[in-house]
Amino acid sequence: MPKRIIIDTDPGIDDAFAFLLALASPEIKLEALTTTQGNVTLEAATRNALAVLELANASHIPVIAGSVVPLVQPLRASAHVHGESGIGNSKLPTPKSKTIEGHAVDYLIQRVLAEPGELSIFPIGPLTNIAMAIRKEPKFAKAVKELVIMGGAVLEHGNVTPQAEFNIYVDPHAAHIVFHSGVPITLIPLDVTHKCLLKIEHVDRLLKIKSPITKFINDAVEVYLRFSFDHGFTGSALHDPLTLATIIAPELLTFKELHVDVDHSSGVSMGKTFGDFFGNTSKPVNMKVALQVRGEEFIELFIQRMETLAKSIS
Ligand code: BDR
Ligand code: CA
Repeated sequence: MPKRIIIDTDPGIDDAFAFLLALASPEIKLEALTTTQGNVTLEAATRNALAVLELANASHIPVIAGSVVPLVQPLRASAHVHGESGIGNSKLPTPKSKTIEGHAVDYLIQRVLAEPGELSIFPIGPLTNIAMAIRKEPKFAKAVKELVIMGGAVLEHGNVTPQAEFNIYVDPHAAHIVFHSGVPITLIPLDVTHKCLLKIEHVDRLLKIKSPITKFINDAVEVYLRFSFDHGFTGSALHDPLTLATIIAPELLTFKELHVDVDHSSGVSMGKTFGDFFGNTSKPVNMKVALQVRGEEFIELFIQRMETLAKSIS
């Protein structure tokens, strides 16, 4: 039976690649996308989500718009990483499909409470929607099966400040609520995503297949590759798609159970995630953290799945 998931997202180039990977994976049933501000405004994120689904012939998947601003912090966007539109230089047509009416937080609550213990949520943007759902409906935390979160930098340095990773930094108060909610959490931090690099030769390999999917990947990733090279990487990190490895290739990841907390004060380490490796705090484990990955094998898997998807959409 495929695993039933909802992706909570702020697309975002690698967010878009995560949708494509989910759609290309028979082990996964993608049931909805809920959107949030993050890489771009909520409006742009929602448009991108609809447009990417349309590109992949998947407009039947519902998209529901969520939070416009983080809980406490101001809105931040990362055009320098993802381009002004949020999906690099790709020029996807204005989507014909529309969002489902209502707020993503209410949608998440309604879906999760309707089937307690059945739905996994994959948050791959700031955690604002998830924190709001936890606060709005006290039954939500017990009813959601699990959260598989792309966020944080546990032993690794940050990518938006020296200490903080983008998704957690954008809404550290939301991350604090989520980390202390009691929901089973798997964390996919920069420690592992920085080892999963999509390189020019991979994109060239994909371009051998003529398809709107391979064209989109190429056009979207150009901006992100330039940003990655400027920061000393040999390719672009597939942060968000790696969350799905927990379903399609969990053997590629090595996890450690830890108590992880987040700094939500407004000092220099705001958004920093830190694990209690020595058990100094005596606080109980609150998540499973991926600390190692066989990155090249994950990239190979990603490319193979994109090749298959590309061949089915011409
Ligand atoms: C995360 O930040 C975003 O820019 C990416 O989409 C990813 O979710 C990596 O820090
Ligand atoms: Ca993202």
